[in-house]
Amino acid sequence: MIEAADRIRAQVARQGPVPWSVVLEAALYGPAGFYTGGGGAGQRRDFLTSPEVGPLFGAVVAAAVDDAWTRWGRPDPWVVLEVGAGAGSLAASVLAARPACSPALRYIAVERSAALRAAACSALPVEDPAQILGPQIRSARDLRDDDDDPVADGPARARGIGPLVTVVADLPAVAVEGVVVANELLDNLAFDLYRHRGGAWQEVRVGLDGSRLAEVEVPADRGPARRLATLVPEPPEGSLVPWESGAVGWLRRALGGLVRGRLIVLDYVRSTAELAQLPVEQWLRTYRAGGRGTDRLDDLGVQDITVDVAVDQLGLVRVPTRIEHQAHWLDRHGMAALEAAAAAGWRAGAARGDLRALADRSRVGEAVILRDPQGLGGFTVCEWDVGPDR
Ligand SMILES: C[S@@+](CC[C@H](N)C(=O)[O-])C[C@H]1O[C@@H](n2cnc3c(N)ncnc32)[C@H](O)[C@@H]1O
Repeated sequence: MIEAADRIRAQVARQGPVPWSVVLEAALYGPAGFYTGGGGAGQRRDFLTSPEVGPLFGAVVAAAVDDAWTRWGRPDPWVVLEVGAGAGSLAASVLAARPACSPALRYIAVERSAALRAAACSALPVEDPAQILGPQIRSARDLRDDDDDPVADGPARARGIGPLVTVVADLPAVAVEGVVVANELLDNLAFDLYRHRGGAWQEVRVGLDGSRLAEVEVPADRGPARRLATLVPEPPEGSLVPWESGAVGWLRRALGGLVRGRLIVLDYVRSTAELAQLPVEQWLRTYRAGGRGTDRLDDLGVQDITVDVAVDQLGLVRVPTRIEHQAHWLDRHGMAALEAAAAAGWRAGAARGDLRALADRSRVGEAVILRDPQGLGGFTVCEWDVGPDR
């Protein structure tokens, strides 16, 4: 297997320094990419995400899905499109929580990595995608802006037959009535880097210093320079910021398919102007084997590369309907109540020490981790409501 770094070296030798988005594509999703090889979230894996803490997070997401279902008039079918679904942990917990919308539910787990899709298919009771999405599924990437009929017929219209579950590789081009949810997806999508120097924005590309990959600066194109001038009106000399083209493009496609319902992004977010004030290590991080990794150009394909999501860049597509701390969002959808019930269950059952009591104790521990303001509790939830409620 040709390593990701060797692929980038060969590309630089052919065409000169390449944008960071090209490096990320190879390092995360190319043939020798981190996610292609099955890297990702989990206890005892590369990093921990909220769904991997335990089933509590999924139980709360199930309540949030029901909240939207009720608000939009309890449609049947009601779709949950979970994008960046990894090995299917969140999907499994949402389904296990048996939300009230279950008979109407079509749960579509979207995961780009074939290795992780295979893991999700083993963990979930999956159906053939055509059974749920119809035989004419297209990927949302194949749509053109001038497409007259941008969305194929939505998920199979029969009523009361849910939950139906499937796993696909890309956002399907179907009209969605339901919830699109992305937990820690946008921080893993392509971005480019720009540095403000001598009164102008420079693009930071990746070139070669001898045989070593190294960053070089070239004058930024007019488009990104104009956008950054608006987002960061007073950039400190030498400041570095990302332009998150992957997240911005994804949001545009996801909102384009959502006819009625809610798009929910859970991630670590800041504004571009905030990022410009911070050392890059605070917002562009690497992870591997359960801990922080090394320099962003080290061991491409072996470590995850992730960036704080620039919420003001997402706002250029559409301003979120609401933005709140993840811990607050979780409590609003019932985490505090589930935690209190589990604490009472553990107090009553501790002497018995049976499975029910141990599950209650573990649920109390999960809530503590999900609330930690220095960890997962410090995340942000951005929501976009689409279409009038009924
Ligand atoms: C940080 S992991 C989060 C996994 C899971 N959501 C969780 O919270 O544990 C990001 C996941 O998004 C997937 N991914 C990246 N780009 C994607 C895309 N365009 N469509 C679907 N999945 C994508 C990656 O392969 C990876 O599994």
